[in-house]
Amino acid sequence: MTQHPPTRLIDPCNRHLNYLRVSITDRCNLACAYCLPREAVPRLSHETILRYEETLRIVRVGARLGITKVRVTGGEPLVRRGVYDFLAQLRRMPDLRDISLTTNGVLLKENLDRIRAAGITRLNVSLDTLRPERYRSITGMDHFDRVWEGILAAQAAGFHPIKLNAVAIEGVNDDELVDLARLSLAYPFHVRFIEFMPIGRSQFAGKPTLLVPEIMQRLAALGPLIPVPRSELDGPARRYRLEGARGEIGFISAISRHFCDRCNRLRLTASGQLRPCLLSDFQVDLKGPIRRGCSDEDLAELFFQTIRHKPSDHNLSVGEPAHVCCQMRSIGG
Ligand code: GTP
Ligand code: 5AD
Repeated sequence: MTQHPPTRLIDPCNRHLNYLRVSITDRCNLACAYCLPREAVPRLSHETILRYEETLRIVRVGARLGITKVRVTGGEPLVRRGVYDFLAQLRRMPDLRDISLTTNGVLLKENLDRIRAAGITRLNVSLDTLRPERYRSITGMDHFDRVWEGILAAQAAGFHPIKLNAVAIEGVNDDELVDLARLSLAYPFHVRFIEFMPIGRSQFAGKPTLLVPEIMQRLAALGPLIPVPRSELDGPARRYRLEGARGEIGFISAISRHFCDRCNRLRLTASGQLRPCLLSDFQVDLKGPIRRGCSDEDLAELFFQTIRHKPSDHNLSVGEPAHVCCQMRSIGG
């Protein structure tokens, strides 16, 4: 009997992989202490980075295999030349139902029209503090005001939802958790608290991790957190809202409460490696085969090879040292 090749990305744990995170550059216009070590990290060379047409081809093959959701990340995606055309081309792929962008917001305000013209309607923006001075000490740059203005301008321009990502770190921004959460009362933003993950080398490696149960306790002063039901295209955040709030509060508990059993994600790094798990260094090279002239069927087979290696669980727990060597900025979060 002939064996038909698989047509959908379903891994050995029966997880349906329909979400591809695509990092288009390892470059960033910020130097966040939780992302980077103190010493300089060499950047990927121009040749090493996938060309847009190569990335689009990979997404197209992924979409034939069931990818319906794509998130464009970096580094900082908006620093790469041509990104708006790239987004527009993604938008034209008929099988994709959801295309979104994760950005640090520095270049948001002046590019909102171009982002919207490319068909993107929802944004995730990193915002770890509401204090300009602290913003500078975390990110190395004095850009708080322009990021905040960008976020407000995005809201005024009708982007929705706008998710604000705060990596919660003891001794860095833990005294602002309530203020950040309060934003969801006044604005329709989804404020998300993220547990710091020890990925690559970082100036915060070894700092005590602030875990979601503790974060939730500290938010108790704001009243009860009302659970919001998950929807089909949700990522890893558990969602809540405060009584009478316009927005939501989300918790991403990569350490204290794994969400591997419902993980639907694959990652394409800026250098063309397909990774089945953020917290594992296993990856499959797609760029080499593409540049050697492989067929779309070969690429599809490489997708299947990758998902066969998707770990059932990433096994990372409190106090464990980093075991992912690749830097966050080339994986894309
Ligand atoms: P949506 O829910 O689709 O809006 O996206 P998201 O929350 O997955 O995306 P975003 O880029 O805003 O990432 C928020 C945080 O979630 C970052 O710290 C990511 O590293 C983390 N995250 C996203 N996907 C995964 C995952 O598969 N595993 C783990 N451990 N963390 C993830
Ligand atoms: N742990 C958790 N989240 C991180 N991010 C960057 N580095 C880390 C880390 N080590 C977050 C950023 C960005 C998102 C894509 O990933 O805040 O918003």
